[in-house]
Amino acid sequence: MAVTGFALVSVVLILFLLYWFLTKTFNHWEKCNIPYLRNAIPGFGHLLPLLTLRENIALFSNRVYKMSDSSMTGFYFLRQPALLVRDPELIKSILLSNFSSFRNNGIVLNEDADPVLSKNPFFTGDYQAWKIARARVSNNLSKLKLNYLFVIVNDVISKMVDFIDKKIEKDGSVYECELKKEFSRYTGEVVANAAFAINGQSFSDNPDKLAFTNVANTLFDTNFINGIKQMLIFFLPNVARLLRVNFLQKSTDLYLRENLKAIIKQRKQENSQPKDFLQFCIDSNTEDNIDGIISDVIVFYLDVLETTSTVLSILFYHLSENPDVQEKLRAHVNSVLKETDGVLTFESLKNMDYLEATLNESLRLLPPFGVLTKFCTKEITLTGSDNLSCVLRPDDRIFISLNGLHSDSKYWPEPHIFNPERFTKENQNNITKFTFLGFGEGPRICAGMRFAMILVKVATATLLSKYSIEHSQKTKLPFQFVTTSFITYIQGGLWAKVRKLSESNENDV
Ligand code: HEM
Repeated sequence: MAVTGFALVSVVLILFLLYWFLTKTFNHWEKCNIPYLRNAIPGFGHLLPLLTLRENIALFSNRVYKMSDSSMTGFYFLRQPALLVRDPELIKSILLSNFSSFRNNGIVLNEDADPVLSKNPFFTGDYQAWKIARARVSNNLSKLKLNYLFVIVNDVISKMVDFIDKKIEKDGSVYECELKKEFSRYTGEVVANAAFAINGQSFSDNPDKLAFTNVANTLFDTNFINGIKQMLIFFLPNVARLLRVNFLQKSTDLYLRENLKAIIKQRKQENSQPKDFLQFCIDSNTEDNIDGIISDVIVFYLDVLETTSTVLSILFYHLSENPDVQEKLRAHVNSVLKETDGVLTFESLKNMDYLEATLNESLRLLPPFGVLTKFCTKEITLTGSDNLSCVLRPDDRIFISLNGLHSDSKYWPEPHIFNPERFTKENQNNITKFTFLGFGEGPRICAGMRFAMILVKVATATLLSKYSIEHSQKTKLPFQFVTTSFITYIQGGLWAKVRKLSESNENDV
């Protein structure tokens, strides 16, 4: 009897201690006097919907953003206090003025499991490593090099035009397509041509099994396994490190390495040095640093392929739903092209400011990354415009909801309306600073922004001068977001109908 009683007391004590351990941090925000989310679950905090893949981090942050009006809202990231910051001045402090306290993005890949991807500046934790990685990207995308890349991009878009023309011819007068899939052909072929110096077969309906396009598409599969991997890397980095969870599949890594090694060897043998991204990487690395070359190429591969095709698909969806904006943009593009006799040049892209305004408006409504995450690296006190104040210590996590900020009627009148006029030169000054973060801000702003602009402008200017993009009923409304990825994907995809413009419209150029 005494033994049973002892066992019972022990079990209760252990359960009590476990409960105490799993919840002991949960009074943090109350003590700091910061508004916070209630009903944290022992051990999980507020992350259960994310851990069960019912919500992704962008949807979660948007929900927290919309819950209150205060400059910051606390919640619990598992057991750890985390803060969603809403106030533009505080966001400026985090991304720019007090960058030294927030240098880390908080998503750090394991170098052993992901030797290549961990060198992408986005995924580097250590400050010195980040500086080196970022300088490599900037060097490979200097103005002169962008000029050379423009030639390749222009060549790829004409292949896309041939492809669409054939589809239209085959299907009748109109080609109805899922936009993300079509733009992945474009960005995939840019990567294949510029960084791997191969024909990626992206514009083929029956590519070889081992064609670049087939391998490239495995990486961002939004399947359950990839969802779990991303979740572990993001939420349980120590477990991910222990299990050596890798972002880039081993087979993909091997395929890319083998292909690159063969091309580099061939170039050396033939002493050829074409002006492409691969050659920039070869030139900026020491002769035997094959890993350095491969890593630079793969950074390019990931950032170009997926982000930019997502952005283009969202932009073209908005254009298909807003024919008046599309018409205005087409007239603008045609008037710029007219100055160079209808030929798209690197210089003429700079004059397409309404195209830039349209892209920004599209990024405002549906950014490909709905949230920015930062890790505190040096103690700092944050004080919001509503006088809420809190001390952040190293390793505290900060979240900035792009979806929340970009749809806040305090900064954007009629936030759900697609209106590029908000971003025109005349109106730009009305935008509250740090409320539009499509490319981020501060020292960690997108390192490929200028190249991304080239990709978007070349595709949009070329396609709009030849086709009209029309509404398709195949897009499922209201949007349901895919929750197994941190990138903005819409379930069922974004669809549009592509129709050739009449000769007279084309000749307006
Ligand atoms: C329209 C397409 C693109 C959009 C909307 C976009 C957006 C972003 C955003 C929001 C960030 C995070 C900024 C932060 O953490 O504060 C980022 C980081 C980054 N982007 Fe992009 N991006 C695009 C295309 C590209 C391209 C084409 C490249 C490279 C060729 C690229 C390279 C990078 C790199 C290397 C980083 C990490 C920068 C760092 O941490 O220092 N991006 N991008």
